[in-house]
Amino acid sequence: MELKAAEVLIAREQIAARVRVLAAEISRRYEGQSLTVIGILRGAVIFMADLVREISPSVNVVMEFMKAASYGSSTTSSGKVTISQGTGIAVKGRNILIVEDIVDTGLTLQHLRGYFKDEGAASVEVCVLLDKKERRVVDVPVEYTGFVIPDEFVVGYGMDYDQKMRNLPSIHTVRSVSE
Ligand code: PRP
Ligand code: MN
Ligand code: MG
Repeated sequence: MELKAAEVLIAREQIAARVRVLAAEISRRYEGQSLTVIGILRGAVIFMADLVREISPSVNVVMEFMKAASYGSSTTSSGKVTISQGTGIAVKGRNILIVEDIVDTGLTLQHLRGYFKDEGAASVEVCVLLDKKERRVVDVPVEYTGFVIPDEFVVGYGMDYDQKMRNLPSIHTVRSVSE
């Protein structure tokens, strides 16, 4: 099946406005402190780039990236998540903000939160642009959420279908090419 971008679900201007609000909240929370912002490759890259540029200069921001891989089981809804590319940084004592484009089952974020806590982070918070709430399998805390969306496949603003369409500036639903 081949898919293409269909109608705009969230337009780039709406995203930009929401990103400014999230960054303002984050700026208030970490004013005068250091904050290590961890983007989860690849989907979070565009959101992370916009978000950090809206965070107040009074927060001392460090940018890092990591990659997580999930292996879902075909018979149960639980999956196993591993870190396939770490940051290489010493986490101990740092304020960590994990940035994700989307939270679906929550398994990726649950694993990452646990990892940073275990490594001795001073604090761990999560910022996601999109929350597909109805798909949640594990109850994982998310401190900053951009938009709650229905259980529909979306692309653009970092999100892909088969690695494509991440570069679209707005978030779109998809439809089959043959339709
Ligand atoms: C997607 C998304 C999150 C994760 C969310 O990444 O970007 O990282 O899945 O799913 P979960 O809540 O069920 O764990 P994906 O594996 O598609 O990789 P990508 O970011 O490189 O597209
Ligand atoms: Mn991802
Ligand atoms: Mg993906």
